[in-house]
Amino acid sequence: MKPVRAAGLLATMLLVGCVVTVNDRVLVGKDRVALWQNKLVIAHRGASGYLPEHTLPAKAMAYAQGSHFIEQDLVMSKDDHVVVLHDHHLDTVTNVRDLFPDRARADGRYYVIDFTLAELRQLAVSERFKMSDGVKTAVFEQRFPLEKSSFQIATFAEEIELIQGLNQSTGRSVGIYPEIKSPAFHRGEGKDISVAVLEVLKTYGYDEQQDSVFLQCFDAAELQRIHNELLPAMNMNVALVQLLGTGPEFRAALTPSGMKMVASYAGGIGPSMQLIVAPGSVAGKLQITNLVELAHDLGLVVHPYTFRRDLMPDYAADYDELLEIFLNDIGVDGVFTDFPDLTVEYIESNL
Ligand code: G3P
Ligand code: CA
Repeated sequence: MKPVRAAGLLATMLLVGCVVTVNDRVLVGKDRVALWQNKLVIAHRGASGYLPEHTLPAKAMAYAQGSHFIEQDLVMSKDDHVVVLHDHHLDTVTNVRDLFPDRARADGRYYVIDFTLAELRQLAVSERFKMSDGVKTAVFEQRFPLEKSSFQIATFAEEIELIQGLNQSTGRSVGIYPEIKSPAFHRGEGKDISVAVLEVLKTYGYDEQQDSVFLQCFDAAELQRIHNELLPAMNMNVALVQLLGTGPEFRAALTPSGMKMVASYAGGIGPSMQLIVAPGSVAGKLQITNLVELAHDLGLVVHPYTFRRDLMPDYAADYDELLEIFLNDIGVDGVFTDFPDLTVEYIESNL
């Protein structure tokens, strides 16, 4: 038995013969949800409410807090390693300016793709910060202090080995939720990040719909390419998730015909929470869109982002109420959160 599939095995056995598909390579709806748990806690960049995002300690903490899936945002190094970082720039979470002052491009930014893995290893990772007049300020000032302790950039492979190692030593079966970042940018730099990510997934045994992986991307054309060309060519068929933001480029996907198109290649959507509860909402008078209904009617699971105790929308009095609105009242299938512990606790106590 493949270790990555252990969590879903029982449910899979029960579901044999009753899987509903929009096309024959996408496992959808209740069947997909039943493979894992009813409501998924997806650790957003790790337990990033407590430790610097995308570091291995943040991932280990997310694991220990009971997350069902752990997210990896992925970009590529100069020497073709897939590394775990939210941006294809280095200057908002590392000390790259101090170590490599001459390596900025004309726009003043430091690009991951201009550095080898050996160089990236030399950088210290810290909490996300803003720079103004040479002064660093943490984006979340109450979180882990800036420039304390010692954190490094990890490769995708190293992070998978951490999660699979913990799955072996704990007997749990926590999944991975990788995001392909900026595929067009990487293509312009001569790199095919989608192929590189799929190769790592295949190496570590994530290659079928039932495996504990959701592969996400904002770029719809790239997800369609992955579904139509890359997965068949590599004899793979993992679950795809279409990320949806608030920009105009996502409007078409929010219509019935657009969502039907999404359902032809993806098993789920990952929308901004603002696409589900409109920003003008006030307590007791929520403006709830039809997005979740639209997606659920097509069998798509819905995993909105990002749930943060320390960055709350005005309409919810506290974090538990926010979770109640989305998980209980609206009925999304899981959430991306910086606070996996609070989210697990809410689900275990209330759902
Ligand atoms: O991938 C889901 C969520 O993480 C999308 O937002 O910008 O944090 O990657 P971002
Ligand atoms: Ca992400």
